[in-house]
Amino acid sequence: MTTTMPPTTSEPVLSAHGIRKSFATSDPPTEVLRGIDLEVATGEFLAVMGASGSGKSTLLYAISGLDRPDTGEIALEGKDLTALTEKEMSALRLHRMGFIFQQGYFLDNLTIRDNILLPALKAEPSGADAAVDELLERFGIDHIAGHGVTEVSGGQLQRASICRALATDPAVLFADEPTGALNSAMTEEVMTAIGDVHARGTTVVMVTHDPRVASRADRVVYLRDGDVVDETRLTGADPEQREHDLQDWLSRNGF
Ligand SMILES: Nc1ncnc2c1ncn2[C@@H]1O[C@H](COP(=O)(O)OP(=O)(O)OP(=O)(O)O)[C@@H](O)[C@H]1O
Ligand SMILES: [Mg+2]
Repeated sequence: MTTTMPPTTSEPVLSAHGIRKSFATSDPPTEVLRGIDLEVATGEFLAVMGASGSGKSTLLYAISGLDRPDTGEIALEGKDLTALTEKEMSALRLHRMGFIFQQGYFLDNLTIRDNILLPALKAEPSGADAAVDELLERFGIDHIAGHGVTEVSGGQLQRASICRALATDPAVLFADEPTGALNSAMTEEVMTAIGDVHARGTTVVMVTHDPRVASRADRVVYLRDGDVVDETRLTGADPEQREHDLQDWLSRNGF
């Protein structure tokens, strides 16, 4: 796998301004996102950290169109997400966004390969088969392509999630705790795969509570009570040093 980083341009692929969200179900309704501004540059790898309940998943869902904020503006590749109908939004999600979650959300009665192929066919039938085969090989799971989803390891399943997300060639890969259900060896395996996705130029926005995982990113923003309270940039090629720098930043700020 390659380790060269692509040039990150200053043009944001994703920009969000004044994002607010509360849930009516909580009494009194509490604001979970409290006016968040966030820009993600094309080709950037952004990690979102914060304590449990700080609003990380809610933010990810809002900026990726999986859920709508109460107020605020979100633009993906210059397109205003808040102006889209549900149908337009789901088409945009299918074609321009990829998603990885803690759990895979696979269809148990389909093979690994068919789970990956299905959304790819829906997005773009021509070339989908070849694209999926190329991804399976690239992420080292071509030998288990015909297996059922219960017959593979957690790390293999998460690499299949990455293949599924990439099969439609998204502008942004969104990941919510992609290693949350994995042991440390599988975490390394999946982070190497996500690092490879980024190295090839895909923008990645990843939620994680794990500093080791977050230290792979170019930039880390920290959420507290629904607000981005600080951010740091990570430079340098040495993974141990990056992790150390991030741990240091987190503890200096009391995060
Ligand atoms: N659909 C919902 N209905 C009501 N409240 C919700 C809903 N989704 C999230 N919340 C509340 O919003 C707050 C933020 O939740 P969110 O899932 O975004 O946190 P998080 O930072 O992702 O936490 P974790 O690290 O545990 O995943 C929490 O208090 C949660 O209970
Ligand atoms: Mg969450």
